[in-house]
Amino acid sequence: MFQSLQALPADPILGLMAAYRADTNPKKIDLGVGVYKDPAGNTPVMTAVKKAEGILLESQNTKSYVGPTGSAGYNDCVAELIFGADLVASLGKRRITAQAPGGCGGLRLAAEFIQKANPDATVWVSDPTWANHVPLLGTAGLKIQQYPYYDYTTHSVRFEEMLATLAEVPSGDVVLLHGCCHNPCGSDLSQEQWQQVRDLCLERGFTVFIDLAYQGLGDGLEEDVYGVRLMAEALPELIVVSSCSKNFGLYRERTGALSVICESDSAASIAATQIAAAARAMYSMPPDHGATIVELIMTNSTLRDEWDAELTEMRDRINGLRSQLVAQLKAAGVTQDFSFIEREKGMFSFLGISVDQIQKLVNNYSIYLVNSSRINVAGINDSNIDYLISSLADVINS
Ligand code: LMR
Repeated sequence: MFQSLQALPADPILGLMAAYRADTNPKKIDLGVGVYKDPAGNTPVMTAVKKAEGILLESQNTKSYVGPTGSAGYNDCVAELIFGADLVASLGKRRITAQAPGGCGGLRLAAEFIQKANPDATVWVSDPTWANHVPLLGTAGLKIQQYPYYDYTTHSVRFEEMLATLAEVPSGDVVLLHGCCHNPCGSDLSQEQWQQVRDLCLERGFTVFIDLAYQGLGDGLEEDVYGVRLMAEALPELIVVSSCSKNFGLYRERTGALSVICESDSAASIAATQIAAAARAMYSMPPDHGATIVELIMTNSTLRDEWDAELTEMRDRINGLRSQLVAQLKAAGVTQDFSFIEREKGMFSFLGISVDQIQKLVNNYSIYLVNSSRINVAGINDSNIDYLISSLADVINS
């Protein structure tokens, strides 16, 4: 039976990790997968996480099952981080949060939930969007369509076109927005634009679904959830999937969540049963380790301050690298305008170079980036920036 299977190409993002690891060039640079790197090029365990792990090791006295929607304590911490304490209080029982195996697990769980609520729903994703959105949502049987988002020429959001498309989205369909630090383009909606999308949603009745994978890596923990909170305050229904992979550095621990806001308390209690059943049918229950670490950090003011300070350092470093990259490209005589990189947020930006130029960077210079020209800015450091700039200058100016 298995002989009938056809081999599939490597994942466009994860495939780069393997290629980078196999490369023996000492000058190789990894700008591929979205993982934070420190100035030495490492992705260390955050200090607050290490300390929480120490506490966990000492205090944990059972490994018994938790349940399909994970730990209630973790779910409360995540809800507070995303929505803020006031909104959590005012939403009351209209809001439910379920722990999920990473952001990906949360997205897949959300897709199952949407499918149960409306099997005919189309999910509208931004053009472009994260490469894994389509497989994660599509395998649940949802139809996918795109709305215009990024203008590769002006390096800004095609907001009028986006709004014009969303104005045609019917009630019963779902619009997926990136909460902050848009992956892959780094161009976010302004506050006014979020407000206009909210108004349109209230008028049209489509359901807003926000993927929040980078809270704290754009402008700040509070600033990065402006859109999420605006929607949560105003809309009768909302779906938010969040991840602790990047802001807690818990990548491999698969620590995420699905939060759903319903029109009424009773609708939310029904939704909670659907989410629990969907989780049970897919993976039974999410892994506990990362979630307990997050809960320990969020409920201990010393650890929480330490984590916040580390996250601030990460964010400042990424924003500093953005400015440094733009300035050094200019100083190296690259006439193409890259100033947009400084305006964009989070780990990613498109360089806006051709596939041919990208292939040269990968094959001739061992500089790894996704074929869309997306780079992970956090992969740059003082030891590799000169080589990166001279390679880019060679490839762009040749
Ligand atoms: C990325 O976009 O590089 C990250 O979100 C990692 C992944 O799973 O693709």
